[in-house]
Amino acid sequence: MPIHSSSTGWVLETRNTAYAIGINEIGLLTHRYWGARLPFVEDYPPPFKSAYFASTDGLHHFVPEEYPGYAGTKYIDPCLKVTFADEVRDVVLVYEDFKVTASSPPTLDLRLKDSFYPLHVTLHYRLHEEYDLIERWVTLENRGDEPILVERVFSAKLTLPPGADYSLTHMYGRHNDEFHMQRESLTPGLKVIESRRIIPSHRASPWFAIDRNASEENGEVWFGTLAWSGNFKITAEVTEFASTRISIGLNDWDFAWKLMPKQPFTTPASISGYTQNGFGAASQIFHDYVRDEIIPHGKIPHKILYNSWEATLFDVDEKSQSSLAKIAAQIGVELFVMDDGWFHNRNLDNAGLGDWFPDKVKFPNGIGGLIKNVNDLGMDFGLWVEPEMVNPNSDLYRAHPDWVIRFPTRTLTESRNQLILNMARADVQEYLIEALDKLLCENNIAFIKWDMNRSVSEPGWADAPGDQREIWVRYVQGLYKVWGTLRQRHPNVIWQSCASGGGRADFGILQFADQIWTSDNTEPTARLNIQEGYLQFLPANTMEAWVTDWGKELVPLEFRFHVSMCGSLGVGGNLLEWDQADHESAASCIRLYKDIRHIIQFGDQFRLISSQKNNFSAVQYLSKDQAEGVLFVFRTYIPERFNFPMIHLRGMESDALYTVEGFGQPRSGRAWMEAGLTVELKNLQSKVLRISRK
Ligand code: GLA
Repeated sequence: MPIHSSSTGWVLETRNTAYAIGINEIGLLTHRYWGARLPFVEDYPPPFKSAYFASTDGLHHFVPEEYPGYAGTKYIDPCLKVTFADEVRDVVLVYEDFKVTASSPPTLDLRLKDSFYPLHVTLHYRLHEEYDLIERWVTLENRGDEPILVERVFSAKLTLPPGADYSLTHMYGRHNDEFHMQRESLTPGLKVIESRRIIPSHRASPWFAIDRNASEENGEVWFGTLAWSGNFKITAEVTEFASTRISIGLNDWDFAWKLMPKQPFTTPASISGYTQNGFGAASQIFHDYVRDEIIPHGKIPHKILYNSWEATLFDVDEKSQSSLAKIAAQIGVELFVMDDGWFHNRNLDNAGLGDWFPDKVKFPNGIGGLIKNVNDLGMDFGLWVEPEMVNPNSDLYRAHPDWVIRFPTRTLTESRNQLILNMARADVQEYLIEALDKLLCENNIAFIKWDMNRSVSEPGWADAPGDQREIWVRYVQGLYKVWGTLRQRHPNVIWQSCASGGGRADFGILQFADQIWTSDNTEPTARLNIQEGYLQFLPANTMEAWVTDWGKELVPLEFRFHVSMCGSLGVGGNLLEWDQADHESAASCIRLYKDIRHIIQFGDQFRLISSQKNNFSAVQYLSKDQAEGVLFVFRTYIPERFNFPMIHLRGMESDALYTVEGFGQPRSGRAWMEAGLTVELKNLQSKVLRISRK
């Protein structure tokens, strides 16, 4: 059993790591250890003692409480902040008891309660032993008669080994430019990464990695994420006593939850891990976990899709889509997706959202004819929707203006001419379930791209049952309910999550969507960097990547394909404008991808030379049995005189013989890894080389 309890507390052991918690001499539930697994349970340090600090406000800045509520002299960043009915505004948590459930995966519940008020807090720990991950979340329960106002409730606090010499890596970006890596030293004070947009957003990702001089391959990395598709907050605090801690959970900005008697509140789960093998290993752990445990169809290879958006924009009809489909099938595409523009009155982005039935002018007989054409060509059919949105110019808005998120006295801010439906409302949820269910029942649709193209404004909810500020959470819960119901009713449909590209890329949405549309930016040299950031925490099979016409003036088609082949390959260029040579080249890249996609989608990924840091980059994928691999090498712009870097392959069996395409005689895995190889490329040239074990 990987959960040990003893007089000093609890030790949670995964394959290579351990996490320990205990109760100290003044009854405080404190963190003890998070790092490499040690031989004996007795090896783990005892709880931090409060004695030395009991009389000063240094106590909580030094002693790492496992889940601090705001109380007393805790000036640190707390996990929990509430106001009781009598206006008392702190929470004094005392340990009550624990429960271990030997299920698979096993869980530990630590139960705390307020020393005076009927507020009960349970800290949940679920161990994913094989992945070296611990999932943590919190349940609040009001066992009294009066509501309690919750103003902050994080999912976890994560304490690093004592010290203040850590670096934080996180991601920032913007629309068309997501997933930039930022690594910076943590210094005393509080660093905040957050979203206030009702989606995680392009601006920040709900992900962090902490290290002490780690590299891609070596060194300690503590990392984590929040399985949540809305406002999140990650704080990194270094106290004046060199204690470094991360908090992760729902954003408390403008948040409140009226905790009613007998109606528990459960936070989203955080998932965190530790490795001694650098950033690369941290990514691989998350890749495996997402593929195996989160996404609905993690074992099925993704089909190569064609998406019509960049070719036709809103100008879709049976004839134009069918002619694209014909060429798509010829070059080897397996799934044809019609994007925006197909539904009632949708000729531009200023009308139609909300009315999820085919436009009578463009599709007088419905979309069945197009679907049949696509199916007759041997492809599956997919469709774009944006369920959470409504245009003021739509039948839906005219019938239900009260369904949108708004403050009644403020002008509605439109973005892309659209407003957001309040997904927290039961009537909105019912409408969407019914409309989308009908679409799926009446048509042979194998794939849905679920889009979400704006951030929230005027976040009001006039007839909210509790506190209006619950909208931040109830919106996402409503979204999950609608999507979850549809998934249950149509279990074979593959869903893709899009929010103007990668605005909603998180472990929460991946419970429903098998894929994410990584970015609206499909220019290949920019895309290389966006993809590298994305792959820090999400696996390649979820990363949808189309080959389009962006950059075609300068970047060869083959390069564009190679970039997209690093994830789940798609095509999005205007095939009607591609010439015969382009079609042939596309067909040959698609044939190759079909041969290697199991390695890319299900194998291990190694970032050999970073594209975010270099204009010459390399990334390798290797099958789990180490028998087959692929090496992608890209050169963007570099002045002529350039010393090509050694590329050191990774992950291979040291003593086995491998060939690398184009490199003649087989060499040992160790030779490819230690001595390496060089690949010479011209500007804007790329190569994909297959690796095979003899
Ligand atoms: C968003 C998406 C695009 C496309 C358009 C359609 O921008 O990110 O891929 O679907 O909407 O309006």
